[in-house]
Amino acid sequence: MLKRFGVSLNEDLLSKFDNMLEEEGYTNRSEAIRDLIRDALVKKDWLNDSIEIVGAVVMVYSHHQYKLAQKVTQTQHQSYKNVLSSLHVHLDSDNCLEVIVLKGKAKDIRQFGEKIISTKGVKYGRFIGATTGSTI
Ligand code: NI
Repeated sequence: MLKRFGVSLNEDLLSKFDNMLEEEGYTNRSEAIRDLIRDALVKKDWLNDSIEIVGAVVMVYSHHQYKLAQKVTQTQHQSYKNVLSSLHVHLDSDNCLEVIVLKGKAKDIRQFGEKIISTKGVKYGRFIGATTGSTI
């Protein structure tokens, strides 16, 4: 059931908000506010270790780097209970892209992300925290 509520904002802040919505392609304020609320709820889930969450690591590395591919695989085996899936793409003759999808307690999967991204030789790495969808 949808409920309506009124929000009071100063004109300047509302104008900035509307400009942002236009840039991001929102067609109405309600959808943007719903997304902001969901984003805040997911961020809160990330602080709660009793909730199961999902995330992903995206990384780029050279397969010529000594033992790096082996270390990345080893780290995943050590955390096999949190690794749902991984995707390896040979980007060109030197570089590999790997996406690792994780599920588990926030602390565990964040630590996994930090460990794998900080592995020596990783050229680029980002950890993305998401949600299983059951709490929003
Ligand atoms: Ni490769």
